[in-house]
Amino acid sequence: MALFPLDGDPVLILPAFEVEKARQAPIPWRLFPYTDEEGPARAFQAAAEAIGRRGRPIAVETLGMRVLEWSLLAHVFSLPEPIAAEPLLARLRMVKGPDEIAAMRRAAAVAEEALRIWLSQVRMGMTEQEATRRLIQACFAAGADALAFEPIVVAGPNTALPHATPTDRPIGAGELLLVDFGVMVEGYVSDLTRTFAVGELDPELQQIHERVQEANAAGRAAVRPGIPAEAVDRAARSVIEAAGYGPYFPHRTGHGLGLEVHEPPYIVAGNTELLQPGMTFTIEPGIYLPGKGGVRIEDDVVVTESGAESLTTFPRELMRLGE
Ligand code: CO
Repeated sequence: MALFPLDGDPVLILPAFEVEKARQAPIPWRLFPYTDEEGPARAFQAAAEAIGRRGRPIAVETLGMRVLEWSLLAHVFSLPEPIAAEPLLARLRMVKGPDEIAAMRRAAAVAEEALRIWLSQVRMGMTEQEATRRLIQACFAAGADALAFEPIVVAGPNTALPHATPTDRPIGAGELLLVDFGVMVEGYVSDLTRTFAVGELDPELQQIHERVQEANAAGRAAVRPGIPAEAVDRAARSVIEAAGYGPYFPHRTGHGLGLEVHEPPYIVAGNTELLQPGMTFTIEPGIYLPGKGGVRIEDDVVVTESGAESLTTFPRELMRLGE
């Protein structure tokens, strides 16, 4: 656990076997190691004495911190309840600089290259899990440093679950095939979803693909500086609502993207945060028909001075997979 006091060098409480690695980092850490045998309690106590901020406020990453570390921290610093650091970190991270956008552009390009490699390999009859393994290999072959998250590669009725897990079920004819994945390059991530047709699709499934494609385009077209984040959600969602599929789009239109896969700004009703040049987020409307199938089309955009640029440009039209 890292602590950043307003005065003095940052503090790192860490397993003893990580000390050498921490010493090599270009950060003037004050190290408080603990062994597996003794556990972390004494190291927390020593760090608290060194910082000497007992009773003063400490903000923590409430979405990422484990109860184990919070309990120790709260004990040694006598903290009554967690104060969320996320709003402060959001202000620092939301607007990306040119170097950050360049890294995100590379992460998007690597994901798109991986998708091209994967499409040349995936076939009807392959299981979702086998298709996922091939996608992971394609990500590293294309130049990923790491995966941004566990990829979702699902077909048929599984596509109707927005966060489905790949199974050993074979990809069949007449099914939708949905792939949602991202890679990390130089610490920054991409997040890309496309939905393909396997063989001939039922007209209703073709129809929902068209509507989602329109909603994705409407969302991207709405992005410009000075408008609230929720306006982008409204632009995408109104296309789906007008087509009568409103109840089948149960999630927000998008999320900020950068060092983390989910970070502000969230593209959701109620978020009045005004968009600024340099903000990066996803636009990923979907329609999910239980038992039949679902479509999601996701792009990563950056707000520019005059509008938006999509970092991902992989074709969004319904593509049919070979036999
Ligand atoms: Co996403």
